[in-house]
Amino acid sequence: MPLDHAQPQTIFLKDYEAPAFAVESIALCFDLREKGTRVLSTMTVVRQSENMPNLVLDGDPQMDLLSIKLDGTPLPAGRISRAGEQLTIKDMPASGVLEIEVEIEPQNNARLEGLYKSGGNFCTQCEAQGFRNITFFPDRPDVMTRFTVRIEADKAAYPVLLSNGNRIEQGDLGAGRHFAVWEDPFKKPAYLFALVAGDLGVLSDQFTTRSGRTVALHIYAKARDLPKCQHAMDSLKRAMRWDEEVYGLEYDLDIYNIVAVSDFNMGAMENKSLNIFNTKYVLADPQIATDTDFDNVEGVIAHEYFHNWTGNRVTCRDWFQLSLKEGLTVFRDQEYSADQASRSIKRIHDVKTLRAFQFPEDAGPLAHPIRPDSYIEINNFYTVTVYNKGAEVIRMMHRLLGVEGFRRGMDLYFQRHDGQAVTCDDFVAAMEDANGADLGQFRLWYAQAGTPELTIEDHWEESTGRYELHIKQSVPQTPGQTEKAPMHMPFLLGLIGPNGQEMDAELVAGEGTRHDAGWLLHIRQSDNRYQFSGLGSRPIPSLLRGFSAPVTIKASLNRADKLFLTAHDSDPFARWEACQDVMIETLLDLVKAVDAGQPLDVGQDLIDACEKILEDAQSDPAFAAELMTLPGEAYIGQMMDVVAVDAIHHARIHLRHVLAHALESHWRRLYREMTDTVFGLSPEQKSRRALKNVALIYLAALGDNETARTHYAQSNNMTDRLAALQVLVNGSDDAARDAAFADFYDRFEMEDLAIDKWFALQALSDKPDTLKTVRTLRNHSAFSLRNPNRLRALVGSFASGNQLRFHAVSGEGYAFLSDIVKHVDQLNPQTAARLVLPLIRHERYDPVRAGLMRKQLQALLNVDGLSKDVYEIVSKSLM
Ligand code: ARG
Ligand code: ZN
Repeated sequence: MPLDHAQPQTIFLKDYEAPAFAVESIALCFDLREKGTRVLSTMTVVRQSENMPNLVLDGDPQMDLLSIKLDGTPLPAGRISRAGEQLTIKDMPASGVLEIEVEIEPQNNARLEGLYKSGGNFCTQCEAQGFRNITFFPDRPDVMTRFTVRIEADKAAYPVLLSNGNRIEQGDLGAGRHFAVWEDPFKKPAYLFALVAGDLGVLSDQFTTRSGRTVALHIYAKARDLPKCQHAMDSLKRAMRWDEEVYGLEYDLDIYNIVAVSDFNMGAMENKSLNIFNTKYVLADPQIATDTDFDNVEGVIAHEYFHNWTGNRVTCRDWFQLSLKEGLTVFRDQEYSADQASRSIKRIHDVKTLRAFQFPEDAGPLAHPIRPDSYIEINNFYTVTVYNKGAEVIRMMHRLLGVEGFRRGMDLYFQRHDGQAVTCDDFVAAMEDANGADLGQFRLWYAQAGTPELTIEDHWEESTGRYELHIKQSVPQTPGQTEKAPMHMPFLLGLIGPNGQEMDAELVAGEGTRHDAGWLLHIRQSDNRYQFSGLGSRPIPSLLRGFSAPVTIKASLNRADKLFLTAHDSDPFARWEACQDVMIETLLDLVKAVDAGQPLDVGQDLIDACEKILEDAQSDPAFAAELMTLPGEAYIGQMMDVVAVDAIHHARIHLRHVLAHALESHWRRLYREMTDTVFGLSPEQKSRRALKNVALIYLAALGDNETARTHYAQSNNMTDRLAALQVLVNGSDDAARDAAFADFYDRFEMEDLAIDKWFALQALSDKPDTLKTVRTLRNHSAFSLRNPNRLRALVGSFASGNQLRFHAVSGEGYAFLSDIVKHVDQLNPQTAARLVLPLIRHERYDPVRAGLMRKQLQALLNVDGLSKDVYEIVSKSLM
């Protein structure tokens, strides 16, 4: 391989060693300047292990080391050496005070890791290993220390100076400068360190904990954005209350700060008492944010708040344990959101996310267990597997142990590990010990990658009234894991009688218990049999209710059974699932027919089932909207051996067209009935809006351009406005589209988050000239390779959200992406490594496309100075 740089090093979990030195405390002093910032660190270091004479600190190779003293005396050159990311101090005494001064350049930091500038303000992002770009330190989560932080800066330009914990001092320094000193009473790893200095407005409020303490709450943002922070503030207070009520967990400091910044690699960061957020997950008002955005803000605010216990009070021993905090915290935020509005719709959304993003990851070249065994760049492992499959694994324990059992496990976990850096195994052990449970086999979920596949057959014996379910499991091979053992998982089952009622039965063979939502079966073997007796007639099985395990299913249920479940299942998730199943089946048939040039037939039974859904839509409009939303093109592609890019698009358009025409009067009626005259954000109003906007899509499929045009003109909120644009961008009325997009731009020119949507929608268009449009937009004055939100909006939407146009058989979409990745990699490797992902599953496409994708990957691999971030992704995808 003609790589100019040394082959990046792989880090292994099996090589973990406890730290040789502890850091008792650290005092940091930041002298923030426009051209270079000096950071003076004073830390007390204490040896932990006799046989390690040298102290090794992590630090960015580019960092300018100005001076280093031990116990007040400069260290001679012979006592220190620098190699790569490491600074070694030879023959370190058993304890000592190290003073290190460095100079860094936050003003030029485009990686957005460490200390950097966003919108003129200073801010930090230290997880996972950004602290080493700020100063030399044992930058690993099992080194926890007490931080005191002094910040000095120009007073006019940076009136707000923040760090973790409590502000213990502030004042003027003369010459237009001022300072603040912050002290965090809790020991923490460096990845939770944060600093903000800027010209920010603040929205303040307070919260009284259940033990009666008052916590000051502050959300900092650009002054003009403060009116958009109220929803985040309300969400924060709800989350604080929820964690007290559900887990007995109370906030532990007198102050909780959130800062919104517009340049951010990910969603948000749980730094102790100083969360730093992507504006996307803080700012929300009805003019710029959709109903979905409101929900996302609420979910992420809650997520970061919940980290205070699951992440900060108890943190990770090493980065292989990332799911310890992330899987658990995602589970907690999912449950929180489920408690705010509709539990079943929240579950449907979470399962859709898992299937759309995690299943492909688990089936592709980057498949890894939720606790990976190795990595080259840890930032590449902030994945849907670690987060969302990790949450599913927690959810399964919750299901197996029950609500109270799970709570007992959580209590024991905090009792044992508060203030510690621990492993996933420690968490499972707490769950086991608090319940006298054996999760030995269950632990495989942490070690084995790949989505288990269940094959289910059933057998009914009329003469004895016995019903048997035969469930086989197999776990597919994944890179580096060819042998898999069977997993332990909960399988929630309902048995439904001909009248649509749950049937009474007795489990006479196989492991399981009666459950309020049916039967909770345990799957442990490759081959599992369950027998029920006492049934008067053949039941229709409602399988994997609530998606009780993150698996795929092949079942012998026929189409009539599935439509029966669509109509009658008492488990809403299972109803939705059954309906989607029939839609998928129909779409796959249509794909075959498109390819064979045969007539396209949808089937009256599906149309009838949909009619029933629309007739009953009033009772739960949002649920009807979910039922009537067709599976996405990418998901249909996942069901095929070779993704039929064009045929999938045609099949889906056809199904929509048929359902639009056959049910036209229902769509017109619902569109009318679901239209509210006053805007509101109550769950009912959001629910009606959701169905109205699904109706709009079907009306547009009738060739009705007028409705979308009027919809746009009359919209008084972003949800409606965006729904209209989405239809117009794919429709045939070019004049209406251009007028609406021009209006949108003028209206929201000053609103970055709205302009992101403007870019994204154009990139998602199914029009043949979309790539051309995207190329033009890449040169738009509002586009920037340096802003991750904007990159994701234009490039990410096109490459990961527009299967039809990105995978154009010409290969131009691939070439466009690889060119962008090459440029972004020089600025921001972490974001570049995410953007490249749509190229990696080349084995799923026909030889022409696959060849063109590999060609681009290969070209990237040959780029001079490629980051290890992109190198890891690309090289693994070519193995
Ligand atoms: N811990 C943060 C969260 O889940 C994610 C930060 C990850 N950032 C990164 N650069 N890897 O809320
Ligand atoms: Zn998190």
